[in-house]
Amino acid sequence: CGIVGYIGDRIATDILLEGLEKLEYRGYDSAGVAVLNNGQLNVKKCKGRLSVLKEKLNGNKIDGTIGIGHTRWATHGEPSDVNSHPHTDTTGNIAVVHNGIIENYLEIKEELQEKGYNFVSDTDTEVISHLVHSYYEGDLIDAVRKAVSRLEGAYALGVISKENPDKLVAVRKDSPLIVGLGEKENFIASDIPAILKHTRKVYILEDGEMAIVEKDKVSIMKTDGTPVEKEVYVVNWDVEAAEKGGYDHFMLKEIYEQPKAIKDTISPRVTKDGKIKLDDVSLTKEDIDKFNKVYVVACGTAYHAGLISKTLIERYLNIPVVVDIASEFRYGEPLIDENTLMIVVSQSGETADTLAALKLAKEKGARVLAVTNVVGSSISREADDVLYTWAGPEIAVASTKAHTTQLVLLALVSLYMAEKKGTISKEKYDEIIKEIVELPRKAQSILDNTDLIEEITEKIYKNEHVFYIGRGMDYDVSREASLKLKEISYAHSEALPAGELKHGTLALIEDGTPVIATITQSKTYEKALSNIKEVKARGAYVIAVTQEEHKEIEKYVDSVLYIPDVIDELTSVLAVIPLQLLAYYVAVNRGCSIDKPRNLAKSVTVE
Ligand code: G6P
Repeated sequence: CGIVGYIGDRIATDILLEGLEKLEYRGYDSAGVAVLNNGQLNVKKCKGRLSVLKEKLNGNKIDGTIGIGHTRWATHGEPSDVNSHPHTDTTGNIAVVHNGIIENYLEIKEELQEKGYNFVSDTDTEVISHLVHSYYEGDLIDAVRKAVSRLEGAYALGVISKENPDKLVAVRKDSPLIVGLGEKENFIASDIPAILKHTRKVYILEDGEMAIVEKDKVSIMKTDGTPVEKEVYVVNWDVEAAEKGGYDHFMLKEIYEQPKAIKDTISPRVTKDGKIKLDDVSLTKEDIDKFNKVYVVACGTAYHAGLISKTLIERYLNIPVVVDIASEFRYGEPLIDENTLMIVVSQSGETADTLAALKLAKEKGARVLAVTNVVGSSISREADDVLYTWAGPEIAVASTKAHTTQLVLLALVSLYMAEKKGTISKEKYDEIIKEIVELPRKAQSILDNTDLIEEITEKIYKNEHVFYIGRGMDYDVSREASLKLKEISYAHSEALPAGELKHGTLALIEDGTPVIATITQSKTYEKALSNIKEVKARGAYVIAVTQEEHKEIEKYVDSVLYIPDVIDELTSVLAVIPLQLLAYYVAVNRGCSIDKPRNLAKSVTVE
């Protein structure tokens, strides 16, 4: 999750530890450093906080002036000493730190094992150190270049080798990496705060670029060796802004990270020929055929992701789905047995009620599949199968990128099961996969164009009551959007199935009341449009969220937030994004504490 590298005249360990400390805010579960000293490669790493690593280093300090350091947020393999970075090859010549996910690591691992390479960790990263070694013939740069040409997935890498004590090699693809330029010393880092104390001059690496970093020289080239002319970027952020990648709040940063988070969650699970592979899931066709009922249980934002998954699972697997809130479920009398599939959804993997619900379901014999963002979390340990949303650490209390990655993962798992069960046509399966793969690009296009959202916010932020309406999945999106607004702006809001308005809430609509209508589902489009007309006729200020194909809606509403055209089943992934931003800007206008709203916690580990 965090990378720092140093080469110069100072004691590398001190600079690495200090740099990693500056990245602590991002969250991590283990840490380590590798430093070259007098022809020796010294590696110290362990599970836990940096303070644990420091203790390990105390009295045992490594004196070298070149090294790499890492804080890890587990993806493959739980947090442990051996799974921590740096990873070395068997000969102890080469050390590697890595951020990202190597999608084809199992294939490479098997190939290397056949050649006699011995693996000690469960990580995808360890294949890189052995792979570099397998290509190493005295030239580290050449070996790294050959190794990365084999890697599929996302990576930011820092590599050192004891036979090349004057070089640090860095490579970037789909995971951020920068080179910091000093006087007779240079740095690499995954994020600017790590090196801001030492220099403000940096090279920002682009995908497919590598840097050869020496004490008084830095060369940048493409991984095929073509030299690259880089401009020096001068950082003019203060430390606080740098931590947030230049964004005003973590929430905004995380909203903008969604295209990448969605891509990271999808890519390793969809093969080039458009098939879903879920390596970690052990459900067989027999298991799936046996299920006659699915329970999806979660809290808060994760619960809303669960609600949206109901439509997909029922539609494709032809079995009833009950979605429940964990604190209700655990004290209810759920009708569960060994023919039930229980899906628990939890960003943190630690929510007390969700964990208790999971245990109850297991006691009753259900098969439990967890969808979570934290490897090694309590929920991931208790479940029979785990699927990770690879959203990276989420810091803002209000969940955004965890939610959209939960949505895509739940879509993937429902398709996966339906295909095994034989309840989905090949055409439908192929069509949805094609659309899923397009989601990161479409999400990005929403984020590239947010002026209107800010403009609309100006008109509604003073209102104390805001209503969200929708039908079917659009109602579920409305519930999530309403929660977002409540938790960060403290404005009261309520989400309603649009058809239910006339049974009470319509009485609250008066001149200027904001009503935010999500209207994306073709089956109920006309019906939802009638509901929009109903509130409009009572004076509501109506903002619609819909696909670009529905331009005619402009005649009936005050403002429209368009999302790119997308298949009905997946509109929720895109429709929620402008609504996250709307909540965010309302909260900014109201001067709220956005990343840490009053009375709320990121992870609720008590009942
Ligand atoms: C808290 C957080 C929410 C989150 C909910 C469930 O209330 O503030 O953002 O949705 O817990 O958390 P989980 O980690 O289980 O998804």
